[in-house]
Amino acid sequence: MASLVLRYPWVSSPFVVSAPMKVMSGPALAVAVSRAGGLGFLGPGAKTQDTNDDLEKVKALIQKGKAIPTTNSALPIGVGYQLWTDDLGTAIATIEKYKPCAAWLYAPRQGTKDYDDWSSKIRRVSPETQIWIQIGTLKEAKQLLQSTELPDVIVVQGAESGGHGRTSDGMGLMSLFPEVADALASSRIPLFAAGGIADGRGVAAALCLGASGAVMGTRFLAASEARIRRGYQDEIVRASDGAASTTRTHLYNHLRGTFGWPEEYTPRTIWNKSFVEQQQGKSFEELKKLHDEAAKDGDNGWGPEGRLATYAGASVGLIHGVKDAEDIVRETQNDALERIQRLFPNQRDACL
Ligand SMILES: Cc1cc2nc3c(=O)[nH]c(=O)nc-3n(C[C@H](O)[C@H](O)[C@H](O)COP(=O)(O)O)c2cc1C
Repeated sequence: MASLVLRYPWVSSPFVVSAPMKVMSGPALAVAVSRAGGLGFLGPGAKTQDTNDDLEKVKALIQKGKAIPTTNSALPIGVGYQLWTDDLGTAIATIEKYKPCAAWLYAPRQGTKDYDDWSSKIRRVSPETQIWIQIGTLKEAKQLLQSTELPDVIVVQGAESGGHGRTSDGMGLMSLFPEVADALASSRIPLFAAGGIADGRGVAAALCLGASGAVMGTRFLAASEARIRRGYQDEIVRASDGAASTTRTHLYNHLRGTFGWPEEYTPRTIWNKSFVEQQQGKSFEELKKLHDEAAKDGDNGWGPEGRLATYAGASVGLIHGVKDAEDIVRETQNDALERIQRLFPNQRDACL
């Protein structure tokens, strides 16, 4: 924890992170989370080059508002990349220019080899940028220990998570996290927990599992600063019972024209008519036609009668409204602290 406090001096305890959600975690969200005492990540752009434009906006937002205290020249927000599709050369040029405080790497084609390649190049151009790697299995965690470039932080992603996660070898955070923590104990690399955390209860639980902090993705889709369409955001608030209302499927990737994800990864999404009709046997061509028509129908394209992708995690039932990111961070932190205090009245810092 001490090294994290030095690296991210504006972050208050417990350490709350907004996940780098592709396109949807834009500059306004990332800066608002960091300004509130968390760590905000920019999601990968539709194209790798888009992160450049996002970081330009981040710089402007940081200069405009209340100062975020830092101890080095790194920008107080992180950036996310999907290694299977993002262009390394473009990413390196962007990181060299803007020096975000952290780069979050996910979904390589060639496991540790890709992580080492990206990490060494990032560290060469921007030693201030810490390397965060998200894994979803014990095997991946152990493989990271063989890296020539050990990450600074490892995010352990449970199967509850929204967006892409493990296709068939994922596991709930409650049992995955402690086993990974035991396997990596000697490395002393800080571990963060992700997947299904949407409020102070989840953060408190993650800390008691041994996490240095908690990552939330789906909760921040319902932040007023998220770069998300209203119809999609309404669905995040409306949906409940993540076990029943979400599923892992590549259907929506394919309907949107995204192919080529490594087979270990499949996204969790709230299902709607596209999925129901696929299960009933409708052809992909027909579903695609209906999907593309729905995409022209604005916010009506989402919802139980809609057809558009609604990537979200199993925690949707815990999200009851759209709030400013600052309120999400502060309320989550305060709630987690209160719960820990109630459990351990004489040991305030039991899990921190
Ligand atoms: C809409 C959406 C998009 C996501 N995009 C990415 C991404 O581009 N890169 C990444 O590493 N993780 C991505 N994730 C996964 C998050 O990093 C994180 O594991 C997840 O949000 C945690 O679970 P939660 O959604 O239950 O909070 C995404 C998640 C969501 C919900």
